[in-house]
Amino acid sequence: MHTAVIGGLWGDEGKGKIIDFLAKDADIIVRCQGGDNAGHTVKVSSKKFVLHLIPSSILHESKKNIIGSGVVINLDTILQEIDELQKQGIRIDSSTLFISELAHIITPYHILNDILNELSQGIGTTLRGIGPAYADKIRRKGLIMLDLIQFSEEDLKKKVYDEIDEVIAYAKQKGITPEKIFAWIEEKETRKKMLKNFLEKYFSRETFIDKEKVLLSLLEARKKLKNYVADIAWMLDQANKENKKILFEGAQGTMLDICFGSYPFVTCSNTTIGGLYTGTGIGFSIEKKVLVFKAFSTRVGGGPFPTEIKDKTSDIIAEDGTEFGATTGRARRIGWFDAVLARYSARVNDASILAITKLDRLDMLDEIKICYAYEMEGKQIKNVTPTARILEKCIPVFETLPGWKQSTQGIASFEKLPVNAQGYIKRIQELVGIPVKIIGTGQERENIIVVS
Ligand code: IMP
Repeated sequence: MHTAVIGGLWGDEGKGKIIDFLAKDADIIVRCQGGDNAGHTVKVSSKKFVLHLIPSSILHESKKNIIGSGVVINLDTILQEIDELQKQGIRIDSSTLFISELAHIITPYHILNDILNELSQGIGTTLRGIGPAYADKIRRKGLIMLDLIQFSEEDLKKKVYDEIDEVIAYAKQKGITPEKIFAWIEEKETRKKMLKNFLEKYFSRETFIDKEKVLLSLLEARKKLKNYVADIAWMLDQANKENKKILFEGAQGTMLDICFGSYPFVTCSNTTIGGLYTGTGIGFSIEKKVLVFKAFSTRVGGGPFPTEIKDKTSDIIAEDGTEFGATTGRARRIGWFDAVLARYSARVNDASILAITKLDRLDMLDEIKICYAYEMEGKQIKNVTPTARILEKCIPVFETLPGWKQSTQGIASFEKLPVNAQGYIKRIQELVGIPVKIIGTGQERENIIVVS
């Protein structure tokens, strides 16, 4: 049986921990879409690992970890990730890590393009070049891993220099200068943090981008990564025929799906179940779909967020300091559990079970709200097509449940949870219509409840 882990709302649901937990029983774990806009944090024996591209399962020994064709790969990020994990004693070589030959590459000119778009009409992207890399894929102008390996140096140079010229021409057409970009980045700490590598390695205050450095780093990366590149669709098909168990690791969340999310405030990949098929090249079925939600909701970046909490309750929930983007360091907006969107998410993903993470973050609240319906244009609705334009018109209708005012941190069985916490989980299950089978009660690997 194959399993998928998918984000229920706007990402950051704590999928890394669930994947780490489920990876124990899998032979192969595969990332299917997104890029280093994702950040999966896993804590093992008080050691914190943040993974952006490599599946969190790399922390288990003797698993095959795959980056599928639907992922867009920043070569600097993956090399740095390999390096840091190796320094922490994790075994990474061509028998534990495989990168799809068809995966597209995010280059510094995609990051420049992301900056140009955000500078004029932003939605609050992670500035990782994700959108422009996927746009190039669709425009049939992308650079894939096979190109990186097979192109002659001359061909690679021509391709890269031409693409850079095109992005620079776009900047000029918009009247944007390198100085303006520099000032815009300097304006905000989070932007400086997100763009540190780009600024230090590739940005030029005279010519926007240092073409030669881009080429040299691609040539360097191809030497280091060539042995990891593989035919993933074939590998997965073989594994299926050999009855191996495959775990499909979704990134971001359903509300960020390019087709089914809160468009246009979305990322540029299919974060829902279909993306796990198109991002790996499989045709066989994924039978078990684990949909992950936090016990509350969060979102980063712009766009409507109906259940957003606008008072100090959000500070209480975020008190452990973990509600900052693992990739960008941006503070996450916090809201109550939204059963309307959760139902939608369960439907588009055909969820089999729910995993609810971070239950312990609600421990100190007197009362907890759940949104069970929306009011839109004077009518109460329980189903919605959640484009941004529609969500903006939706007013959440809440029911209020009593808090439990005691610690659930580290509790490992459902029966040991305070009665009100059990009631909260049961109510979520009832409203979404899918059984809750996994509950997270803390940051450590073992802080998890499996509901029988
Ligand atoms: P992009 O993926 O960088 O293009 O950003 C598009 C939108 O998706 C922005 O609102 C980002 O904040 C959001 N986003 C992308 N990746 C993640 C993630 O892993 N967690 C949470 N939000 C994300």
